[in-house]
Amino acid sequence: MNVVILAAGMGKRMRSALPKVLHPLAGKPLLGHVLDCARTLSPERQIVVYGHGGETVPSRMAASDVRWVLQAPQLGTGHAVMQAVPELDESVPTMVLYGDVPLTRAATLAKLVAAAGTDRLALLTVDLEDPTGYGRIVRKDGNIVRIVEHKDADAATLAIREVNTGILVAPTPALERWLAGLSNHNAQGEYYLTDIVAAAVAEGMPVVSAQPADVWETLGVNSKRQLAELERIHQRAIADNLLDGGVTLIDPARIDVRGSLACGADVSIDVNCVFEGRVEIADGASIGANCVLRDARIGAGAQILPFTHIDGASVGSEARIGPYARLRPGTELAAHTHVGNFVEMKATRMGEGSKANHLAYVGDAEVGARVNIGAGTITCNYDGANKYKTVIGDDAFIGSDTQLVAPVTVGAGATLGAGTTLTREAPAGKLTISRAKQTTIENWKRPVKQPKA
Ligand code: UD1
Ligand code: CA
Repeated sequence: MNVVILAAGMGKRMRSALPKVLHPLAGKPLLGHVLDCARTLSPERQIVVYGHGGETVPSRMAASDVRWVLQAPQLGTGHAVMQAVPELDESVPTMVLYGDVPLTRAATLAKLVAAAGTDRLALLTVDLEDPTGYGRIVRKDGNIVRIVEHKDADAATLAIREVNTGILVAPTPALERWLAGLSNHNAQGEYYLTDIVAAAVAEGMPVVSAQPADVWETLGVNSKRQLAELERIHQRAIADNLLDGGVTLIDPARIDVRGSLACGADVSIDVNCVFEGRVEIADGASIGANCVLRDARIGAGAQILPFTHIDGASVGSEARIGPYARLRPGTELAAHTHVGNFVEMKATRMGEGSKANHLAYVGDAEVGARVNIGAGTITCNYDGANKYKTVIGDDAFIGSDTQLVAPVTVGAGATLGAGTTLTREAPAGKLTISRAKQTTIENWKRPVKQPKA
């Protein structure tokens, strides 16, 4: 299979400097969705015809399995496919996709490929309530005879509700022959790809059709409004998959997955959570409202409480994180750990049963098991130029409002008194404290305002 993706169009109605096919849907460029879907067919060659937006499109996509073909100027869909001809492998059929139609299912494309075989032209068509703007599928005795563009159609043709989605599969040598014969004598003065249908019929080649399971699979993006509509459709489909897999979603209309989300059994997700990158949630874990998880692994039975932000981190089983916790990249929390409100952790490993329940910054730290990190604790890991490590042994107790000036080590079972600024090692099993002696000034009087003279 050759896959040719048309992505040269201008996308004027997006009202954006960004080329249309680079606009993200579920966090991924529209063109990325099309490419990922095409890849499921293991195509021999993937060719993207680009134009508007110039080199931004190939450079941003950075897809090494794609051959990029520039179409300039853009003289229509037929002209676009002509640009790809030198890149086609003639021994396999060619599929044409649109870079701005992101939600087509792989199964639908597979169905179209099967309908085409090696010696038929196959069109993906769909019946629309309102076919305005689309090319109409004209049939005679049930057989497709041609496609007529909306702008070229007479009243009888305009009444046809079966439309061309633009997605098709054709035998490659025949496609090349038909393209060579295209003209631009039509209402738009363009080379219409759709004219290959009449050419196939004239040669006696069978023209067949396949339909998608859902109409939205064929919807394109021409405006921000349509982009937002497709985003909702896509998110709803993801939510339905999660529900079908046994995940509890408190409101399937209020979850956004911008990547992959794999959930075990009895996972529950409250409203307004966003999942980015690769997120895995193990059996029985729950995610509270308004959490953002990116590239995260959540262990079995863990509770992520509301307003927690997790990025590039893993949380052990039965852990309790949040509300209002922030776990940054490189953080690995063992089982039964607790991280509470307004605690930020970065590149920190924390052993089983350890806790940092309130208001702390713990960065570049190696924390043992059963450690208690008091409120207001800060690892001073950065001297303005370099980062240093803090190591805290098992069963240590870090009193509130402690600064650990890294590099520094707290021995196992050590206790740090509240307010300590630790600059040297705290020996294991002992109380270490750095605190100015408390004094009381006996005869001190609070100043009072002098009466004005
Ligand atoms: C096209 C079809 C129409 C179909 C409709 C489905 C033709 C002549 N018409 O119409 O039958 O119902 O799609 O949406 O094929 N593109 C290029 N280079 C060009 C022109 C277009 O790359 O020179 C790309 C666009 O970026 C877009 C796709 O081809 O991704 C379709 O182009 P568009 O202008 O939207 O086609 P329509 O006129 O809507
Ligand atoms: Ca269009």
